[in-house]
Amino acid sequence: MTHVPSHLAVIMDGNGRWATRLGRPRWMGHVRGAHTAREVVAHCAQRGVSQLTLYAFSSDNWKRPAEEVGFLFDLFASHLEHQLAKLVTHGIRLSMIGRRDRLPRAFADAIAAAEARTAHGTRMHLRVAVDYSSRAAMQEAFAQAGAEGARALGSPAVGGSLIPPVDLVLRTGGERRLSDFLLWESAYAELAFLDVNFPDLSTADLDAVFADYAARDRRFGGVPSTLSA
Ligand code: IPE
Ligand code: IPE
Ligand code: MG
Repeated sequence: MTHVPSHLAVIMDGNGRWATRLGRPRWMGHVRGAHTAREVVAHCAQRGVSQLTLYAFSSDNWKRPAEEVGFLFDLFASHLEHQLAKLVTHGIRLSMIGRRDRLPRAFADAIAAAEARTAHGTRMHLRVAVDYSSRAAMQEAFAQAGAEGARALGSPAVGGSLIPPVDLVLRTGGERRLSDFLLWESAYAELAFLDVNFPDLSTADLDAVFADYAARDRRFGGVPSTLSA
């Protein structure tokens, strides 16, 4: 099997366009996208990815119409409820990264309960980024005094347990940008941009991305690996 990234970060983009293209309302794209997210989680666990971070809702996404935002949180809550037992069974630890103080109260409570219930999962660490802004996380970390400041970038105070360096960022939906996602952690990440909208992302697409990743020469500022032997 190909060498998979230890930490895969996915910008799940293109739900709205998927629906619009089919003449359907945007919320249908989010429903379909949530289904795809479940498949991505299962496939990554099966392939041996040990850290998976999914961008579900950015701090800039509050700019969207209230109905869409409300729909998204209802969808997150219902998926959490239905997937929790499966996460426990499969040894998947769930954490949320991002601000918690602006979330609907019931959702914030459900996330906290799910984090507690899955805390002992060792197979894969799934982080879901909700009300997440990488710049805000960095600003908060830098505002913290003392030697702990830099460490605070990954601290619970800024929305999660320590976040390891990202090996591969995958963005669906055709845009070539990071949209304030894991800027610090992606310093040496490989980047993969797919034109496919997230609801259409298949496990075969993911395997193709993994194969492409496995063929890259990650130098981290050094010389090509063919010269370093
Ligand atoms: C990503 O799909 C899901 C969220 C940001 C919540 P979009 O909703 O951004 O879909 P497009 O980019 O408008 O197609
Ligand atoms: C990024 O997608 C956020 C998520 C996928 C959750 P957006 O659709 O919000 O990003 P922009 O607006 O195209 O940069
Ligand atoms: Mg988008």
